[in-house]
Amino acid sequence: MKALSIPVLLVIFWASLPAGFCDTDPQDVAALQSLMRGWQNFPSSWKASNDPCGAQWDGITCNNGRVTSMRLSSINLEGTISSSIGQLSELVYLDLSSNSRLSGPLPTSIGNLKQLTTLILVGCSFTGGIPQELGNLVQLSFLALNSNKFTGRIPASIGLLTNLFWLDLAQLSGPIPISSTTSPGLDLLIHTKHFHFNKNQLTGTLNGLFSSSMRLEHMIIVTTLFTFIRLFDNNQLSGSIPAELGSITSLQIIRLDRNRFTGAVPTNISNLVNLNGLNFADNQLSGTMPDLSALTKLNAIDLSNNSFDPSVLPAWFLELKTLTSIDIASGGLYGQVPNRIFTLPELQQVILSNNAFNGTLDMTGNISQHLQRVNLLNNRIVEANITQGYNRTLVLVGNPVCLDSEFSSSRFCSIQQDSIIPNVTSITKCGSTSCSSDQSLNPANCGCAYPYMGTIFFRSLLFADLTNNEHFQQLETGLWTELGLQAGSVFLSDISFTSDDYLQVKVRMFPSTGTSFNVSEVTRIGSELSSQAYKPPPGFGPYFFVADPYAHFAGEDDSGKPKISTGAVAGIAVACGLVLTALTSWAIFSFLQKRRTEELSGQTNPFASWGIAQKDRGGAPQLKGARLFSFDELNTCTNNFAENNEIGSGGYGKVYKGILADGTSVAIKRAEYGSKQGALEFKNEIELLSRVHHKNLVSLIGFCYEQGEQMLVYEYVSNGTLRQNLQARGIYLDWKKRLRIALGSARGLAYLHELANPPIIHRDVKSTNILLDDNFKAKVADFGLSKLVADTEKGHVSTQVKGTLGYLDPEYYMTQQLSEKSDVPTCTALALSC
Ligand SMILES: *[C@@H]1O[C@H](CO)[C@@H](O)[C@H](O)[C@H]1NC(C)=O
Ligand SMILES: *[C@@H]1O[C@H](CO)[C@@H](O)[C@H](O)[C@H]1NC(C)=O
Ligand SMILES: *[C@@H]1O[C@H](CO)[C@@H](O)[C@H](O)[C@H]1NC(C)=O
Ligand SMILES: *[C@@H]1O[C@H](CO)[C@@H](O)[C@H](O)[C@H]1NC(C)=O
Ligand SMILES: *[C@@H]1O[C@H](CO)[C@@H](O)[C@H](O)[C@H]1NC(C)=O
Ligand SMILES: *[C@@H]1O[C@H](CO)[C@@H](O)[C@H](O)[C@H]1NC(C)=O
Ligand SMILES: *[C@@H]1O[C@H](CO)[C@@H](O)[C@H](O)[C@H]1NC(C)=O
Ligand SMILES: *[C@@H]1O[C@H](CO)[C@@H](O)[C@H](O)[C@H]1NC(C)=O
Repeated sequence: MKALSIPVLLVIFWASLPAGFCDTDPQDVAALQSLMRGWQNFPSSWKASNDPCGAQWDGITCNNGRVTSMRLSSINLEGTISSSIGQLSELVYLDLSSNSRLSGPLPTSIGNLKQLTTLILVGCSFTGGIPQELGNLVQLSFLALNSNKFTGRIPASIGLLTNLFWLDLAQLSGPIPISSTTSPGLDLLIHTKHFHFNKNQLTGTLNGLFSSSMRLEHMIIVTTLFTFIRLFDNNQLSGSIPAELGSITSLQIIRLDRNRFTGAVPTNISNLVNLNGLNFADNQLSGTMPDLSALTKLNAIDLSNNSFDPSVLPAWFLELKTLTSIDIASGGLYGQVPNRIFTLPELQQVILSNNAFNGTLDMTGNISQHLQRVNLLNNRIVEANITQGYNRTLVLVGNPVCLDSEFSSSRFCSIQQDSIIPNVTSITKCGSTSCSSDQSLNPANCGCAYPYMGTIFFRSLLFADLTNNEHFQQLETGLWTELGLQAGSVFLSDISFTSDDYLQVKVRMFPSTGTSFNVSEVTRIGSELSSQAYKPPPGFGPYFFVADPYAHFAGEDDSGKPKISTGAVAGIAVACGLVLTALTSWAIFSFLQKRRTEELSGQTNPFASWGIAQKDRGGAPQLKGARLFSFDELNTCTNNFAENNEIGSGGYGKVYKGILADGTSVAIKRAEYGSKQGALEFKNEIELLSRVHHKNLVSLIGFCYEQGEQMLVYEYVSNGTLRQNLQARGIYLDWKKRLRIALGSARGLAYLHELANPPIIHRDVKSTNILLDDNFKAKVADFGLSKLVADTEKGHVSTQVKGTLGYLDPEYYMTQQLSEKSDVPTCTALALSC
């Protein structure tokens, strides 16, 4: 009974002991395993070892045994995030972007990741609210949650993230929180350089959001769904653009378009002397058009679709020499279109449709070389003098000049197709090579390969001429050089504007060698693009990247196929081998042949007449005892030993789950050639296990010894190993259950020691050898190393030391004398190690 009480005590301490022999902190191992359980398609390197840091799991980086970074962009992860993620307390970097089948809510335990500086979840399908616990992540500098399915409000606690550099939220509703005496607000984010709120349904005003100490570079509050609703209470004018905005003089890009701002544009806007892009389109702004003459760095300006007072085109426009794009459609403008506007040296686009310009259009003289498009649809122009040879777009449809019989046949009086935007790199040099549908031509070598593909969305372009290849050539070159790809191995296509005025560019990136990227390459590239580590050439402005799923990873033999989520792991974590000496194999073989003959004769259905006559008696008796399985039978029931039936592995080989013809679930331990243990252990285990039956011992159902295979067929224990449960369930495995498990394990061992005949010493008691069933009942497994206690030498046997290093009884190790006491696990043996 001494042997019974000591394990009880020790098992209770099991969870709290430090790591023994692996590089990774057990808490982190447990958290990762719990995440794995909720996921499909995690990298196969994660299955090969229980030691993420030591074995270098793809996408995981460690420091001193703690997981510090998870970069898992674009690898088809599917499932939800387990709340155990909160245990990765040293995590600094978390990028799960572009896994569109990651769904469910963001667990609030994410607020425990106090070291986190980067959180990127762009392009997934997370739902629910953004947890206010994010406000606990005081180190956070990069927070990108856009392109998900989040709902609800922006938590005010985000305002506590004073180290935030990049804030990118999407699809939320409610007001932007502003601080008060009782609550934080986003106005506290004075170090944040990027505010991106796209595709939201925010309401309220921007009043109070800006302070003079803010360091905003990009302020992007855009899109059709973002509606600042005017509040009509107490005559307070709200819903106007706050004058304080004028104090953030470092601002480079501001988009407030597609909202419902009202009132006049504050004059303080003219303090924003560093502004490159200004877009106030599609609001209800009124009053006189603001004087922006001081904004001498302005490239793109869009004031279209507002309610400004009718006026002539303000003269200050003609002084902004850096302008590339002017859009004042529906701007209430009249008078002559000044000729000088077309001479602005950088000008690419002028959109003045739906105004009241009258008189003569004079497009002669030194007009901009870059001018690509002039749109004067629906004005009152009666005459036009256009420079000879102007061959770009000019739309005069809807002007009286087009009723003029001479002019009406001109191409300017019909809607002209915008020029086709060419692909940047021509692949015509590759001739007529064609690739299978999921491959593409790599322009670098004209070979077919699986590209890593996605879409880059540029949120505020500072140029307008998409037919000018120069920009996109720079973009292409920049991508392959900065992302460390082979020269020429990037292909851009499908360049167009979205309805929100974002420029989208489809990008294909090709592997430098072979036809596929491996997991670490894809996560690396995805991470550089999602974290803005890649900087596009000037003019493209801030962007975000959403990748298409990559399904052809090099080195992942089962790529594309969903892997099991390891939810239910029947554990048989034993060693078994195939090193056969000619002698032992002959001995075993003859033993088994004899056994097999017996079994086969048994298989010629001794109960053939039973079922026919006694249908209502529930069929033939189900006899217990190890039976012989044919290779074909096991092959069929595991679906050719399919990888997704794999439920465990070890030095001996792999364990598969199978379902027998009668519906029984089994765990099949299939020895690998070259395993350390041999035929002797195989026979040993069959003999032992077929003899012992106890509710706390895993029972053997049968075996297979055919076609060079050694397989053991066990009952399937559904809830995994004790170790997995301690690690994954952590606190959910309460003390009562732990005590029951400890008692159960001790009963199983006591049976082996005291009641089995001859007595059996397990020799390898450890948490991975204790399995749990549905009711958390313990079942001791792995008798491969068991030793019958011979009657020799006063109850102990002298033998070659076997077992798992680190779990060995030190006394046994030193003396090589084995006794029942050797099964009383030492502290080290019970420690949570790998
Ligand atoms: C904005 O400009 C107006 C007038 O120039 C000035 O009275 C006001 O103080 C300015 N507000 C801010 C916040 O700079
Ligand atoms: C301005 O209004 C017109 C007509 O309603 C619309 O076609 C156009 O898309 C609007 N422009 C913007 C920038 O929203
Ligand atoms: C036309 O404009 C370009 C660019 O501003 C300038 O370099 C050139 O001298 C101008 N030519 C004439 C004839 O004014
Ligand atoms: C253009 O329209 C304005 C305002 O309607 C008017 O004062 C002006 O005379 C018109 N000019 C021409 C040339 O028709
Ligand atoms: C068009 O402009 C050119 C150059 O300014 C001028 O010489 C010519 O007379 C104009 N033609 C008409 C019909 O106004
Ligand atoms: C337009 O004309 C310029 C110079 O005359 C020429 O270089 C260019 O190719 C032409 N573009 C088109 C689209 O015809
Ligand atoms: C650009 O590339 C895409 C994708 O290969 C192709 O479908 C499209 O036809 C190309 N466009 C042009 C103008 O060559
Ligand atoms: C992945 O591919 C890159 C580039 O081909 C190579 O340097 C790296 O060693 C590969 N990593 C693995 C784990 O195979």
